[in-house]
Amino acid sequence: MSKQTLILLYGGRSAEREVSVLSAESVMRAVNYEKFTVKTYFITKSGDFVKTQIFDEKPAENEKLMTNATIDFDKIVKASDIYEKDAVVFPVLHGPMGEDGSIQGFLEILRLAYIGPNILAAASTMDKLLAKLVFETVGVPQVPYVAVFSDDNLQAAEQEIAEKLQFPVFVKPANMGSSVGITKVGSPSELQAGLKEAFKYDSRVVVEQGVDAREIECAVLGNNGEVSATLPGEVVKDVAFYDYNSKYIDNKIEMAIPAVISPDLQQEIQNYAIKAYKSVNGTGLSRCDFFVTADNKFYLNEINAIPGFTQWSMYPSLWANMGLKYSDLIEKLVELAQSAFETREKHLL
Ligand SMILES: Nc1ncnc2c1ncn2[C@@H]1O[C@H](COP(=O)(O)OP(=O)(O)O)[C@@H](O)[C@H]1O
Ligand SMILES: [Mg+2]
Repeated sequence: MSKQTLILLYGGRSAEREVSVLSAESVMRAVNYEKFTVKTYFITKSGDFVKTQIFDEKPAENEKLMTNATIDFDKIVKASDIYEKDAVVFPVLHGPMGEDGSIQGFLEILRLAYIGPNILAAASTMDKLLAKLVFETVGVPQVPYVAVFSDDNLQAAEQEIAEKLQFPVFVKPANMGSSVGITKVGSPSELQAGLKEAFKYDSRVVVEQGVDAREIECAVLGNNGEVSATLPGEVVKDVAFYDYNSKYIDNKIEMAIPAVISPDLQQEIQNYAIKAYKSVNGTGLSRCDFFVTADNKFYLNEINAIPGFTQWSMYPSLWANMGLKYSDLIEKLVELAQSAFETREKHLL
């Protein structure tokens, strides 16, 4: 039987490009090379597509993918040159232009099957404000928040925040990930600076009630009709704020899998994770991140439709805990990509 081509798109234009390279390297090492050939393409910071390695067998441990520091400009291709009949694409990309529906739309135009969220699931979970509105309508618990737009009267917005929320609050650009542009604001006098920082990244900002809570995450897998969730895990922090550096650079995050929580809470979190996933037309995979307070109240913080995907990241580790190992998880995602592709094509009457 001839092997199937798995195309890895990695790097990308968003601030989360370094995480993407790590996830892609992890995938290329774990793939079952009896079944797959892996072709890799690096998307540079400026958006060019660069053809990088092709693997027919497991790469050496020291094999590295391209980064923005090592671009070979002679290998730039047209974005549409990635097309190959019957290939499945894994856009291992996070943040804007990767996880927001744009690359997904491009892949649909090319008529390629791809892993992960479809356009709607990607776009709606990438926008923290839209996601909140959707979760609200299906009754998923969330912390109180106020939306602020860049053309709003900021004084009035600050007043609304002071009335509706208690400090500290978290100020977040609607469209980012990996804590980029997010500020924890301890008092009204710091609010303006927090808003200014968030508006650098997006003209839509969400200001949220801060909660003193554990961070409990649940991995969801499947296409809309058939979806399953893992036992939740916990992000155990030794820093006050789970920011970009602590997440990826200093490695200060530890995980407890499964999270030590009551069976009832476990079940509720799984149910709400699936409910939230379905509400945004979840496809492929998502990591649903919750806050759990000391008195066992829980709130959905966000859905990450393309979560960190190194072998040691929370999402694959949660599935490994359920008995689905990393390489099998990748295969399952390929199957889901193909079935989503077939359904999509079938609906085009
Ligand atoms: N409302 C909140 N209360 C307490 N901590 C928060 C709140 N919102 C965010 N945080 C902290 O900031 C981190 C990043 O926020 P999050 O909304 O998950 O953004 P990102 O999309 O960048 O991951 C969270 O993991 C958590 O540690
Ligand atoms: Mg988060």
